[in-house]
Amino acid sequence: MKPLLIKGGRIIDCDQNLDLRGDLFVRGGKIEAIATSIPIPQESPCTIIDAEGLIVTPGWLDIHTHLREPGANHKETIKSGSEAAAAGGFTTIACMPNTQPVNDNSFITNYIYQKVSSDSDVNIYCIGAISKGLQGEQLAEIGSMWEAGIVGISDDGNTVMNSYLMRKAMDYSKRFDLVVITHCEDSNLKGKGVMNEGFNSARFGLRGIPNAAEELMVARDILLSELTGAKLHIAHVSTQGSVELIRQAKKRGARVSAEVTPHHLTLTDEAVGNYDTNTKVAPPLREIQDLEALWEGLADGTIDALASDHAPHSVEEKEVEYDLAAFGMVGLETAFPLYFRLVLENKISLSRLVSALTVKPAEIIGIPRGTLKVGSQADITVFDPKSRYRLDKSKFRSRSTNTPFHGVEVQGKVCYTVCGGKVVHRSEHLSNSPIKELK
Ligand code: DOR
Repeated sequence: MKPLLIKGGRIIDCDQNLDLRGDLFVRGGKIEAIATSIPIPQESPCTIIDAEGLIVTPGWLDIHTHLREPGANHKETIKSGSEAAAAGGFTTIACMPNTQPVNDNSFITNYIYQKVSSDSDVNIYCIGAISKGLQGEQLAEIGSMWEAGIVGISDDGNTVMNSYLMRKAMDYSKRFDLVVITHCEDSNLKGKGVMNEGFNSARFGLRGIPNAAEELMVARDILLSELTGAKLHIAHVSTQGSVELIRQAKKRGARVSAEVTPHHLTLTDEAVGNYDTNTKVAPPLREIQDLEALWEGLADGTIDALASDHAPHSVEEKEVEYDLAAFGMVGLETAFPLYFRLVLENKISLSRLVSALTVKPAEIIGIPRGTLKVGSQADITVFDPKSRYRLDKSKFRSRSTNTPFHGVEVQGKVCYTVCGGKVVHRSEHLSNSPIKELK
């Protein structure tokens, strides 16, 4: 692999408290040097990226994605999902176990990792199931999945309603120091709800899901984590009450972390008004006071990380009446500019954004990424903070296009994604590119 020199960008690395204008040099897939000026090496050949006016950060992590392989390859494969990740600026993703069959045993985990090694240019980690078949009845084969390399356990999409089983899972997870990632929606209280419960659900004539359905489970899982000492991560926080529960738990010293999605940060339940089924997600889009609490929670670190909850679904599952549509929207290729909007609107700082995309998610799943430290794997994302454009689902690498953000004008564009020293994505708008190959 050729050495790579990224010249003249603003380099931000929260792991090293670094924010400088300068150059970054990569050799043998590893970060070799960062300095205000690094001369073009005499050795040949070398790839040079002109990053003048661009921002250079550690490669981003998305610890909540759904690749539908095995089982629903028509929606997403490991290959298409990894290409979507690279296009979105993500060098590392963690995929949820709700495949078919469910990733609840080491055979499936090994199968996925084998496919990843041949099909993906980005780093992909598996999250294993908590319970067999995500049924919430018996523990999955957590120990053998850990040996196969899972980085967390979750019954994603399903809430483990049995508190005794959840306690057992948390107790067991400690042996491997595996994070327990919980989808918090009380399934009884959620019932057949399809959107947030409130003024708008009444207006639109759709069954609602109250904030309490989430908050009950957030409170329970925090209590169980405090009881067992397990490492808990709350997926896709959506309500004001959940933010407060997490804030208080952190003050008490609980081992809890949390994430928020781009859609929960940017859309309220007003968006459901056109009955676009792409707005149907679990948990549902909430109200403005919830969004304000999410912005504040993200800004003050109560919410640690950003995560897309990329959930590809086919046209057949979405082009039906709202009640019948599948929950979920794709996110890998739209997430970044939506997150960046919060920086442009002064809701969070640029360094908070970078930390929520790098060091924080790496810490949550316990992997040594999200840093530009000399000697570390050269995973790097370069973006243009000024570029304005419209999100366009016809350009997605993902096999699915279920997004309500098509046509939305945004600012902040991923220019280059570098994984292990290799340029795995280069934006099409750079076709007259500043990338140079020195012979
Ligand atoms: O909306 C969602 N869709 N939320 C989840 O938690 C699961 C996901 C899916 O797998 O489709």
